[in-house]
Amino acid sequence: MSRSGELNYLRAIGPDRARHAFDKPFAGGGCGPLLADFGTFASFFPPPPRTLLDLGCGTGWTSVFFARMGYDVTGVDLAPDMILAANANKARYGVENATFVTGDFERLDYENVFDCVALFAALHHAEDDAAVLRGAYRALRPGGVCVTAEPGVGHTKHPITRAAVAEQGVTERDMPPSRILRLGTQAGFSKGEAFPMIPDLRRGRLRALKWAIWAIAFPRRNGYAVLTK
Ligand SMILES: C[S@@+](CC[C@H](N)C(=O)[O-])C[C@H]1O[C@@H](n2cnc3c(N)ncnc32)[C@H](O)[C@@H]1O
Repeated sequence: MSRSGELNYLRAIGPDRARHAFDKPFAGGGCGPLLADFGTFASFFPPPPRTLLDLGCGTGWTSVFFARMGYDVTGVDLAPDMILAANANKARYGVENATFVTGDFERLDYENVFDCVALFAALHHAEDDAAVLRGAYRALRPGGVCVTAEPGVGHTKHPITRAAVAEQGVTERDMPPSRILRLGTQAGFSKGEAFPMIPDLRRGRLRALKWAIWAIAFPRRNGYAVLTK
């Protein structure tokens, strides 16, 4: 899949959806579940103040959130439009401890500078996911932590995913923790652990219970991966 899908994504989705991406997490009806997911993801990092590299930062909402938590954040994204939006978000939330850089997370050249690396809904867009994890490993200081929140098994079969590939030409892959942990070990991480996704309580108690049992039984299929250098 070509990189043009990623580079042109904000223009390709049109102004309404681009505005939605810019206003995340507050836009639309998904704010609560998105914040619950992000809150769980953020809880796997050691507490601030620390340096944090946010890979595939998009319009920068996660970076701004981390910065407001007290991390010193560097956000990286392939698409210059995303970095423009991230800088606009930085300005509108009055954040100073976040820097945004246009760059390819498959070709990182940071060495031993970060305490934390965040991949929130980004690694599954990589063509070479192993290279991303090798770069994340190199970027971390000894003892540093890389946390991922990525769509797992079955993602590429979803109609919304198929539409994104067909219409915007973006790369989409299943990115379960099992794969991330295996590639992380190959990259040199000394420890890796999978954690289950939290249930969506709006589905009702029975469905939430079924989901929780499934998620706890199979965190390596769908969930968070935590890698320690
Ligand atoms: C689904 S978006 C998620 C953005 C953000 N993390 C969020 O949750 O809103 C995936 C992001 O990864 C970026 N991306 C894809 N391939 C990339 C690469 N090779 N290097 C850096 N960023 C990349 C895309 O441009 C896009 O902004």
